[in-house]
Amino acid sequence: MSNAYAMSDGRPVSGQLKKFVFRGKSSSNGDTRGEYLEIIIPELLSAGYSFYTWPSAPLLAWYLWTQRRHIRGLRVLELGCGTGLPGILAAKCGARVTLTDSVALPRSLRHLSACCEANGLVPGRDVQILGLAWGLFLTDVHNLRPVDLLLASDCFYEPTQFEEVLSTVAYLLDGTDARFLCAYQERSADWSVEALLKKWGLKGAVLDLDSLSESSGVDYRVLIGERTLHLLEIVPE
Ligand SMILES: C[S@@+](CC[C@H](N)C(=O)[O-])C[C@H]1O[C@@H](n2cnc3c(N)ncnc32)[C@H](O)[C@@H]1O
Repeated sequence: MSNAYAMSDGRPVSGQLKKFVFRGKSSSNGDTRGEYLEIIIPELLSAGYSFYTWPSAPLLAWYLWTQRRHIRGLRVLELGCGTGLPGILAAKCGARVTLTDSVALPRSLRHLSACCEANGLVPGRDVQILGLAWGLFLTDVHNLRPVDLLLASDCFYEPTQFEEVLSTVAYLLDGTDARFLCAYQERSADWSVEALLKKWGLKGAVLDLDSLSESSGVDYRVLIGERTLHLLEIVPE
């Protein structure tokens, strides 16, 4: 979209701006009932995998948009945010959002702040941004509980890390009514989280995106193209 922009404090940043548009369901005359949300994500394509938006993120954001009437006021925590599109959308829809990415990647966390600012969200006031490494249970992880909704997009891309992700999820969901919504890309038919879900006392169900497409009036296939993406809901067993 552009190759230069400025943050709210005037700092110049170079890269590209990606625009994601969410609309209410069209009526027969094409009227979208005034429901419209535009999210701008600054991307730095060459900087590393947390500096651009992976294909799973628009899918999860679209799902949250279909649920926007139910997420206002919820305590939402996103893991492995990268550019944070789903969490930013949840915050714009009135949820109380904490965005996290690896504590070992301070530059990624700064970029996440920039993504929030690009959408008029002030870190520390409108959203919280924290370093959270999967599978590491430092005292500040305890302070993140309780949550109502846990999110992640494209955090199951490295099988050696699946258990770290799920152990964090199990800890945050334990003893609550919260659920974990996770969009992921199918990269190998051999990869599975079934055994790990059992080990960590969790169960998962893949959501039916076709019927959601029908009821929301937006075809999710337009968002994902030729890729095989799924939306998985995980809750305690
Ligand atoms: C494939 S990217 C997905 C980013 C974003 N959720 C999206 O869909 O656009 C994976 C993200 O997980 C983060 N990550 C990788 N290892 C992590 C760890 N051990 N703990 C927390 N986050 C981690 C990366 O920094 C990166 O932002």
